[in-house]
Amino acid sequence: MRHFLKETDFNLNEAAAVFESAAQLKRQRGRLGRSTLDGQTWGLLFAKSSTRTRVSFEVGLHELGAHPMYLDQRTTQIGRGETIADTARVLSRYIHGLVIRTYGHEIVEEFARYANCPVINALTDFLHPCQIYTDAFTLSERWAKPGEKLIDSLRGKKLAYIGDCSNNMANSWILGGAMFGMKIALAGPAGYGPGAEIRKQLAKDGLEDNFLFTTDPMEAAADADVLYTDVWVSMGQEGEEAERLERFRPYTIDSKLMGVAKPEALFMHCLPAHIGMEVSQEVYDSPASIIFDQAENRLHVQKAIVSALV
Ligand code: CP
Ligand code: NVA
Repeated sequence: MRHFLKETDFNLNEAAAVFESAAQLKRQRGRLGRSTLDGQTWGLLFAKSSTRTRVSFEVGLHELGAHPMYLDQRTTQIGRGETIADTARVLSRYIHGLVIRTYGHEIVEEFARYANCPVINALTDFLHPCQIYTDAFTLSERWAKPGEKLIDSLRGKKLAYIGDCSNNMANSWILGGAMFGMKIALAGPAGYGPGAEIRKQLAKDGLEDNFLFTTDPMEAAADADVLYTDVWVSMGQEGEEAERLERFRPYTIDSKLMGVAKPEALFMHCLPAHIGMEVSQEVYDSPASIIFDQAENRLHVQKAIVSALV
Protein backbone atom coordinates (compact mmCIF):
# COMPACT_ATOMS: atom_id res chain seq x y z
CA MET A 1 0.00 0.00 0.00
CA ARG A 2 1.43 3.39 -1.01
CA HIS A 3 1.06 6.39 1.30
CA PHE A 4 2.17 10.02 0.98
CA LEU A 5 3.20 11.15 4.44
CA LYS A 6 6.43 12.94 3.55
CA GLU A 7 8.11 14.39 0.47
CA THR A 8 10.39 11.38 0.07
CA ASP A 9 7.55 8.85 -0.08
CA PHE A 10 7.87 9.28 -3.84
CA ASN A 11 11.35 8.93 -5.33
CA LEU A 12 12.62 11.66 -7.65
CA ASN A 13 11.35 9.92 -10.79
CA GLU A 14 7.92 9.43 -9.28
CA ALA A 15 7.84 13.06 -8.12
CA ALA A 16 8.81 14.13 -11.65
CA ALA A 17 5.87 12.11 -12.99
CA VAL A 18 3.53 13.75 -10.41
CA PHE A 19 4.62 17.20 -11.67
CA GLU A 20 4.04 16.26 -15.33
CA SER A 21 0.68 14.71 -14.52
CA ALA A 22 -0.35 17.81 -12.52
CA ALA A 23 0.50 19.98 -15.54
CA GLN A 24 -1.64 17.78 -17.78
CA LEU A 25 -4.54 17.73 -15.30
CA LYS A 26 -4.29 21.53 -15.10
CA ARG A 27 -4.33 21.96 -18.89
CA GLN A 28 -7.27 19.61 -19.31
CA ARG A 29 -9.19 20.40 -16.15
CA GLY A 30 -12.63 18.81 -16.13
CA ARG A 31 -11.84 16.58 -19.09
CA LEU A 32 -9.11 14.38 -17.70
CA GLY A 33 -8.97 11.75 -15.00
CA ARG A 34 -12.70 11.82 -14.36
CA SER A 35 -12.99 8.07 -14.02
CA THR A 36 -9.72 7.44 -12.15
CA LEU A 37 -11.53 6.96 -8.83
CA ASP A 38 -14.97 6.04 -10.18
CA GLY A 39 -17.26 4.79 -7.45
CA GLN A 40 -14.73 5.39 -4.66
CA THR A 41 -15.22 7.24 -1.39
CA TRP A 42 -12.31 9.06 0.27
CA GLY A 43 -12.28 10.31 3.85
CA LEU A 44 -10.87 13.69 4.90
CA LEU A 45 -10.18 13.47 8.62
CA PHE A 46 -9.22 16.91 9.96
CA ALA A 47 -8.23 17.83 13.52
CA LYS A 48 -7.21 21.38 12.53
CA SER A 49 -8.77 24.24 10.56
CA SER A 50 -8.33 24.44 6.79
CA THR A 51 -9.55 26.37 3.78
CA ARG A 52 -7.27 25.49 0.84
CA THR A 53 -6.44 21.90 1.73
CA ARG A 54 -9.97 20.82 2.53
CA VAL A 55 -11.57 22.51 -0.48
CA SER A 56 -8.87 21.53 -3.00
CA PHE A 57 -9.04 17.89 -1.87
CA GLU A 58 -12.85 17.82 -1.92
CA VAL A 59 -13.00 19.37 -5.40
CA GLY A 60 -10.08 17.30 -6.69
CA LEU A 61 -11.45 13.98 -5.45
CA HIS A 62 -14.85 14.84 -6.93
CA GLU A 63 -13.19 15.67 -10.26
CA LEU A 64 -11.44 12.29 -10.21
CA GLY A 65 -14.76 10.52 -9.73
CA ALA A 66 -14.67 9.88 -5.97
CA HIS A 67 -17.04 11.00 -3.25
CA PRO A 68 -15.08 13.03 -0.67
CA MET A 69 -16.33 12.67 2.90
CA TYR A 70 -15.23 15.34 5.39
CA LEU A 71 -14.80 14.06 8.94
CA ASP A 72 -14.23 16.59 11.69
CA GLN A 73 -12.10 14.68 14.16
CA ARG A 74 -13.88 16.21 17.16
CA THR A 75 -17.20 14.70 16.14
CA THR A 76 -15.80 11.20 15.50
CA GLN A 77 -15.16 8.72 18.30
CA ILE A 78 -11.42 9.55 18.15
CA GLY A 79 -12.44 12.73 19.92
CA ARG A 80 -13.76 10.49 22.72
CA GLY A 81 -10.72 8.26 22.93
CA GLU A 82 -11.19 5.54 20.30
CA THR A 83 -7.74 4.39 19.21
CA ILE A 84 -6.13 5.33 15.90
CA ALA A 85 -5.55 1.64 15.14
CA ASP A 86 -9.25 0.82 15.46
CA THR A 87 -10.35 3.94 13.61
CA ALA A 88 -7.99 3.15 10.74
CA ARG A 89 -9.15 -0.48 10.54
CA VAL A 90 -12.83 0.47 10.64
CA LEU A 91 -12.56 3.31 8.11
CA SER A 92 -10.64 0.99 5.76
CA ARG A 93 -13.71 -1.26 5.59
CA TYR A 94 -15.68 1.65 4.05
CA ILE A 95 -13.37 3.98 2.17
CA HIS A 96 -10.70 3.84 -0.53
CA GLY A 97 -8.33 6.51 0.74
CA LEU A 98 -7.79 8.80 3.71
CA VAL A 99 -6.51 12.38 3.83
CA ILE A 100 -5.46 13.45 7.32
CA ARG A 101 -4.65 16.83 8.91
CA THR A 102 -3.51 16.48 12.49
CA TYR A 103 -0.94 17.39 15.15
CA GLY A 104 1.81 14.81 15.79
CA HIS A 105 3.37 13.22 12.71
CA GLU A 106 3.29 9.84 14.47
CA ILE A 107 -0.52 9.99 14.19
CA VAL A 108 -0.48 9.84 10.35
CA GLU A 109 2.22 7.16 10.55
CA GLU A 110 0.00 5.08 12.82
CA PHE A 111 -2.98 5.56 10.51
CA ALA A 112 -0.84 4.39 7.60
CA ARG A 113 0.29 1.35 9.58
CA TYR A 114 -3.25 0.16 10.26
CA ALA A 115 -5.18 1.46 7.25
CA ASN A 116 -5.77 -0.80 4.31
CA CYS A 117 -5.97 2.17 1.91
CA PRO A 118 -3.64 5.01 0.86
CA VAL A 119 -3.10 7.70 3.54
CA ILE A 120 -2.14 11.25 2.58
CA ASN A 121 -0.63 13.74 5.01
CA ALA A 122 -2.57 17.00 4.68
CA LEU A 123 -0.34 18.68 7.31
CA THR A 124 1.14 17.61 10.61
CA ASP A 125 3.20 19.64 13.07
CA PHE A 126 6.26 18.13 11.34
CA LEU A 127 5.57 18.29 7.58
CA HIS A 128 3.20 19.67 4.92
CA PRO A 129 4.25 17.65 1.83
CA CYS A 130 1.22 18.41 -0.38
CA GLN A 131 2.07 22.11 -0.03
CA ILE A 132 5.76 21.64 -0.89
CA TYR A 133 5.03 19.52 -3.98
CA THR A 134 2.57 22.20 -5.07
CA ASP A 135 4.96 25.07 -4.42
CA ALA A 136 7.83 23.34 -6.21
CA PHE A 137 5.48 22.61 -9.14
CA THR A 138 4.39 26.27 -9.17
CA LEU A 139 8.03 27.37 -9.41
CA SER A 140 8.80 24.82 -12.09
CA GLU A 141 5.90 26.12 -14.21
CA ARG A 142 7.79 29.41 -14.37
CA TRP A 143 11.31 28.11 -14.58
CA ALA A 144 11.20 25.09 -16.91
CA LYS A 145 12.51 25.76 -20.41
CA PRO A 146 10.57 24.34 -23.36
CA GLY A 147 11.17 20.59 -23.50
CA GLU A 148 12.72 20.49 -20.03
CA LYS A 149 11.19 18.19 -17.39
CA LEU A 150 9.43 20.45 -14.88
CA ILE A 151 11.25 19.02 -11.85
CA ASP A 152 14.69 19.48 -13.44
CA SER A 153 14.20 23.26 -13.50
CA LEU A 154 14.43 23.35 -9.67
CA ARG A 155 17.98 22.03 -9.49
CA GLY A 156 20.46 24.61 -8.15
CA LYS A 157 17.82 27.29 -7.46
CA LYS A 158 18.00 29.11 -4.13
CA LEU A 159 14.96 29.40 -1.86
CA ALA A 160 15.20 31.63 1.20
CA TYR A 161 12.74 30.74 3.94
CA ILE A 162 12.23 33.59 6.40
CA GLY A 163 10.43 33.26 9.74
CA ASP A 164 9.74 30.20 11.89
CA CYS A 165 12.44 27.82 10.74
CA SER A 166 11.34 25.11 13.16
CA ASN A 167 7.82 24.60 11.81
CA ASN A 168 6.24 22.18 9.34
CA MET A 169 6.75 24.42 6.29
CA ALA A 170 10.44 24.96 7.07
CA ASN A 171 10.95 21.22 7.63
CA SER A 172 9.15 20.39 4.41
CA TRP A 173 11.29 22.84 2.42
CA ILE A 174 14.44 21.36 3.95
CA LEU A 175 13.38 17.83 2.97
CA GLY A 176 11.76 18.69 -0.38
CA GLY A 177 14.54 21.12 -1.28
CA ALA A 178 17.22 18.48 -0.63
CA MET A 179 15.27 16.00 -2.76
CA PHE A 180 14.79 18.45 -5.65
CA GLY A 181 18.42 19.63 -5.56
CA MET A 182 17.63 23.16 -4.40
CA LYS A 183 19.70 25.40 -2.12
CA ILE A 184 17.67 26.15 1.01
CA ALA A 185 18.68 29.07 3.24
CA LEU A 186 16.60 29.78 6.33
CA ALA A 187 16.54 32.81 8.60
CA GLY A 188 14.78 33.13 11.92
CA PRO A 189 15.42 34.00 15.55
CA ALA A 190 17.80 31.87 17.63
CA GLY A 191 15.84 29.03 19.19
CA TYR A 192 13.53 28.75 16.16
CA GLY A 193 15.90 26.91 13.84
CA PRO A 194 15.61 23.47 12.25
CA GLY A 195 15.45 20.74 14.88
CA ALA A 196 17.05 17.33 15.27
CA GLU A 197 14.04 15.51 13.83
CA ILE A 198 14.36 16.94 10.32
CA ARG A 199 18.10 16.26 10.27
CA LYS A 200 17.33 12.67 11.27
CA GLN A 201 14.81 12.42 8.43
CA LEU A 202 17.36 13.70 5.88
CA ALA A 203 19.87 11.11 7.07
CA LYS A 204 17.25 8.34 6.89
CA ASP A 205 16.48 9.32 3.30
CA GLY A 206 20.18 9.51 2.37
CA LEU A 207 19.94 13.25 1.66
CA GLU A 208 22.57 15.81 2.63
CA ASP A 209 21.81 18.37 5.34
CA ASN A 210 23.57 21.20 3.53
CA PHE A 211 20.90 23.84 4.18
CA LEU A 212 21.96 27.12 5.78
CA PHE A 213 20.35 28.46 8.96
CA THR A 214 21.14 32.00 10.05
CA THR A 215 19.56 34.63 12.28
CA ASP A 216 20.28 37.25 9.57
CA PRO A 217 17.45 37.52 7.00
CA MET A 218 19.67 39.54 4.62
CA GLU A 219 22.22 36.72 4.54
CA ALA A 220 19.55 34.12 3.74
CA ALA A 221 17.82 36.27 1.12
CA ALA A 222 21.02 37.31 -0.70
CA ASP A 223 20.82 36.32 -4.35
CA ALA A 224 17.79 34.07 -3.77
CA ASP A 225 15.49 32.99 -6.61
CA VAL A 226 12.51 32.90 -4.28
CA LEU A 227 11.63 34.27 -0.84
CA TYR A 228 9.18 32.17 1.14
CA THR A 229 7.40 32.75 4.42
CA ASP A 230 4.67 31.30 6.60
CA VAL A 231 2.77 32.33 9.72
CA TRP A 232 4.74 33.04 12.89
CA VAL A 233 2.22 31.17 15.03
CA SER A 234 1.21 27.79 13.65
CA MET A 235 -1.96 25.91 14.53
CA GLY A 236 -1.53 24.52 18.03
CA GLN A 237 0.94 27.25 19.11
CA GLU A 238 -1.64 29.88 20.04
CA GLY A 239 -0.43 29.93 23.66
CA GLU A 240 3.00 31.20 22.51
CA GLU A 241 1.60 34.02 20.40
CA ALA A 242 2.80 37.07 22.39
CA GLU A 243 6.38 35.80 22.69
CA ARG A 244 6.54 34.72 19.05
CA LEU A 245 5.23 38.01 17.64
CA GLU A 246 7.92 39.81 19.62
CA ARG A 247 10.77 37.47 18.58
CA PHE A 248 9.81 37.32 14.89
CA ARG A 249 9.40 41.06 14.38
CA PRO A 250 12.73 41.51 12.49
CA TYR A 251 11.74 38.80 9.98
CA THR A 252 9.12 40.50 7.82
CA ILE A 253 9.63 40.01 4.08
CA ASP A 254 9.52 43.58 2.77
CA SER A 255 10.84 45.40 -0.30
CA LYS A 256 14.22 45.92 1.34
CA LEU A 257 14.64 42.17 1.81
CA MET A 258 13.32 41.42 -1.69
CA GLY A 259 15.93 43.93 -2.88
CA VAL A 260 18.88 41.70 -1.91
CA ALA A 261 17.42 38.70 -3.76
CA LYS A 262 17.78 38.24 -7.54
CA PRO A 263 16.00 41.01 -9.52
CA GLU A 264 13.51 38.45 -10.89
CA ALA A 265 12.98 36.79 -7.48
CA LEU A 266 9.49 35.52 -6.62
CA PHE A 267 7.57 35.79 -3.35
CA MET A 268 5.65 32.81 -1.96
CA HIS A 269 3.45 32.11 1.06
CA CYS A 270 1.45 28.94 1.74
CA LEU A 271 -1.36 31.09 3.24
CA PRO A 272 -3.23 32.09 5.35
CA ALA A 273 -1.14 35.28 5.66
CA HIS A 274 -0.82 38.06 8.21
CA ILE A 275 0.05 41.21 6.29
CA GLY A 276 2.30 43.53 8.27
CA MET A 277 3.75 40.58 10.16
CA GLU A 278 5.55 37.95 8.05
CA VAL A 279 5.06 39.97 4.84
CA SER A 280 4.58 43.65 4.00
CA GLN A 281 1.51 44.77 2.05
CA GLU A 282 3.78 46.00 -0.74
CA VAL A 283 5.48 42.63 -1.33
CA TYR A 284 2.21 40.74 -0.89
CA ASP A 285 0.60 42.77 -3.70
CA SER A 286 3.69 42.99 -5.91
CA PRO A 287 4.07 41.33 -9.34
CA ALA A 288 6.67 39.02 -7.71
CA SER A 289 3.96 37.49 -5.54
CA ILE A 290 2.63 34.16 -6.86
CA ILE A 291 0.57 33.20 -3.81
CA PHE A 292 -2.74 32.61 -5.59
CA ASP A 293 -1.10 30.41 -8.24
CA GLN A 294 0.24 28.35 -5.34
CA ALA A 295 -3.24 28.11 -3.86
CA GLU A 296 -4.79 27.07 -7.19
CA ASN A 297 -2.12 24.48 -7.89
CA ARG A 298 -2.97 22.61 -4.69
CA LEU A 299 -5.92 21.24 -6.66
CA HIS A 300 -3.96 20.01 -9.68
CA VAL A 301 -0.97 18.63 -7.77
CA GLN A 302 -3.07 16.79 -5.19
CA LYS A 303 -5.12 15.20 -8.00
CA ALA A 304 -1.81 13.99 -9.44
CA ILE A 305 -0.65 12.70 -6.02
CA VAL A 306 -3.91 10.81 -5.45
CA SER A 307 -3.76 9.35 -8.98
CA ALA A 308 -0.18 8.18 -8.39
CA LEU A 309 -1.17 6.35 -5.21
CA VAL A 310 -4.13 4.36 -6.56
N1 CP B 1 -1.85 26.34 2.96
C1 CP B 1 -2.80 25.58 3.55
O1 CP B 1 -2.61 24.41 3.84
O2 CP B 1 -3.97 26.23 3.77
P1 CP B 1 -5.19 25.73 4.66
O3 CP B 1 -4.72 25.71 6.11
O4 CP B 1 -6.27 26.74 4.42
O5 CP B 1 -5.58 24.36 4.22
N1 NVA C 1 2.72 26.45 9.68
C1 NVA C 1 1.30 26.63 9.42
C2 NVA C 1 0.96 26.21 8.05
C3 NVA C 1 -0.47 26.46 7.65
C4 NVA C 1 -0.79 26.00 6.26
C5 NVA C 1 0.50 25.85 10.46
O1 NVA C 1 0.87 24.70 10.74
O2 NVA C 1 -0.46 26.39 11.01
